[in-house]
Amino acid sequence: MTTIRLNDVTKQFDDGTVAVNRLSFEAKSSEFLVLLGPSGCGKSTALRMIAGLETITSGELYLDGHFANDVPPRDRDIAMVFQSFALYPYLNVRENIAFPLKLAKAPKDVIEERVGAVSQALGLRDFLHRKPGTLSGGQRQRVAMARAIVRRPSMFLMDEPLSNLDAGLRVELRTEITALTRDLGVTTIYVTHDQTEALTMADRIAVMRNGILQQIDTPDNVYQDPATVFVAAFLGTPRMNLLQGSIHAYLEEQLLVDLGAQALALPWEDPRSRRLARHHQERVIFGVRPEALEIVTHGTAGPDRGLLSGWVRHLEHLGHETLAYVDTGSTPVRLDINGTGEDDLDHQDAVGEDGQTRSISRIAKVTLERFRGGHRDDDPRERPIIDGRAPGEPGHRSRSSDLVVRVDTERKVRTGEQVQIAVDLTRIFVFDRMGYRIHTGPAVRMT
Ligand SMILES: Nc1ncnc2c1ncn2[C@@H]1O[C@H](COP(=O)(O)OP(=O)(O)O)[C@@H](O)[C@H]1O
Ligand SMILES: [Mg+2]
Repeated sequence: MTTIRLNDVTKQFDDGTVAVNRLSFEAKSSEFLVLLGPSGCGKSTALRMIAGLETITSGELYLDGHFANDVPPRDRDIAMVFQSFALYPYLNVRENIAFPLKLAKAPKDVIEERVGAVSQALGLRDFLHRKPGTLSGGQRQRVAMARAIVRRPSMFLMDEPLSNLDAGLRVELRTEITALTRDLGVTTIYVTHDQTEALTMADRIAVMRNGILQQIDTPDNVYQDPATVFVAAFLGTPRMNLLQGSIHAYLEEQLLVDLGAQALALPWEDPRSRRLARHHQERVIFGVRPEALEIVTHGTAGPDRGLLSGWVRHLEHLGHETLAYVDTGSTPVRLDINGTGEDDLDHQDAVGEDGQTRSISRIAKVTLERFRGGHRDDDPRERPIIDGRAPGEPGHRSRSSDLVVRVDTERKVRTGEQVQIAVDLTRIFVFDRMGYRIHTGPAVRMT
């Protein structure tokens, strides 16, 4: 069938905005590839370049192996569906769907057969005589979809087609869209800012931020094995806990991930320890998802289990689960996940505790303020984040963070209670301060 390959594709608009920055990936034949990222990260621009609606500033686009930078949109055999799709209000559903075929002067029986098949697939059989104005949002988006695929394009590009629909419909259409595109074997690139959509629909997810590709992999792998702290934080609800930490290697003994008030120890035999030891005495970002944490009564630490203690500050009952917000005295890392720009370090340098200036990668814009921690009264220089002082002690200036933990429904936890948290050490992540994962591969379970 058809492949879509981008090679170092960049889009710079006339005003200087670099919307897409050296983007490279390949959508395989019949693949359902999702472009995922916050609003403004360049998803639509990337899609529009593939469709030929936007010129490519540099780099190459190959459609089915053929260089396609200059191919006019109508010769690309692509159908596109947008968030809001204008249907012809004076035509009924059947005529709306048939429109592209009529335009292409397809024979009458072909039109009849194709419109029948596609309206069957999308559950529109009973609405064929209706005008768009009398349809619900979901039905209208189905008509738009039907009209796009009725030509049987070899590529399908969808730009947030479900964002205008309510939650129930979105779930329903999610399944329909993936079923339909798989049945047809159409290579599909689907753009969304919704990580749940991406995780449930995609064969592979390409995560973008600020025009830059962060990672491209299967839903399982981007979730379990995130390459950057941004990918780790963007996928999953509740979000991955991210804390300031530092690495201390005790050669041949253990590797400590110091979280300020408390620390976690990895045995030296853990393959990650040797890798992390290269970052001895460096500040890092520690990440752990709520599901890798458990509130325990009399916990003991082990080779793949660490213990932290804290106070339950707040409980959130969500029906099917309860989330406990536990104050462990460590300092959170805040990421500008949605590109609001409030912790944007794009053109700033961070001053390390050694007084050296380092550029912070735009891939993980961690707040300068958070990096620096508090300030020492007697020393105008930046104070290290890890200060060994317990929260509440004089000198402890860092804002303490709440570790979000999923709580078993049977376990009774009360606000204000002091608890122990067991940490599944096979499911912890350590990122450097640029936001890149330090240890490679998923965490390894010790025996
Ligand atoms: N025509 C344009 N001129 C200048 N900047 C643009 C233009 N279109 C989009 N942009 C900018 O490019 C970036 C990416 O936009 P877009 O591709 O629409 O992002 P997304 O679809 O991920 O929300 C944004 O910063 C946006 O403001
Ligand atoms: Mg967009």
